[in-house]
Amino acid sequence: MEPTDFALRLAARTAEYRQRQAQRRLELESELLALLVPSFPFTWEIGCGHGHFLAAYAQAHPDQLCIGIDIMGERIERALRKRDRARLKNLHFLHADARLFLEVIPPGVAFSRLFLLFPDPWPKLRHHKHRVLNHEFLAAASRRSTPDASLFFRTDFEPYFDEARAIVARHPAWEEALDAWPFEFSTVFQARAVQHRSLIARRRPALPVTIS
Ligand SMILES: C[S@@+](CC[C@H](N)C(=O)[O-])C[C@H]1O[C@@H](n2cnc3c(N)ncnc32)[C@H](O)[C@@H]1O
Repeated sequence: MEPTDFALRLAARTAEYRQRQAQRRLELESELLALLVPSFPFTWEIGCGHGHFLAAYAQAHPDQLCIGIDIMGERIERALRKRDRARLKNLHFLHADARLFLEVIPPGVAFSRLFLLFPDPWPKLRHHKHRVLNHEFLAAASRRSTPDASLFFRTDFEPYFDEARAIVARHPAWEEALDAWPFEFSTVFQARAVQHRSLIARRRPALPVTIS
């Protein structure tokens, strides 16, 4: 293949990818506008897989609006079937990436609880940038959460746990909380894990404004 052919095909594929992303963004925006209500905080799970945990959680908390997201469409389809079989009206699953989801949460809407259970650990250093929990994610999440929001993180990969804890400790908007884990229900990955560690982070209280 000539170098110019290659460059043209690459440019066409990039343009197609960008168009698909823009389209998905618009769809997600309208899905969230239909589901989320300003001043009614929601419970959010990132990487819900087949929805085992959030379906059990939503059943036990009928007063909470629960949204689970995953980047794997097939997992979301299975989660939706589970939701429908259980006839849970307070539970929704969406095919979405965590960062995009945060960007398109409608104005005035906030989450109060976030579960991140056994996220992909990306053990290699050069892949750490793919981890969901990092400084930038916490900053964006703090803009879309209630002032008393909590984030529940659980992993069986010790280095990710240590890093998550250090990131929370350094973050101006979040701090570690020693609260009890709010709801025990084993996820698929938890059932396979030999051991796991749990971290709870909550929003730091806003500093009082001093007028000098
Ligand atoms: C290791 S699995 C854990 C699934 C489930 N939480 C459990 O404990 O059984 C991680 C899940 O996160 C999803 N995921 C990875 N990155 C994501 C992202 N940026 N946004 C949403 N979901 C993501 C993956 O597709 C996968 O289903």
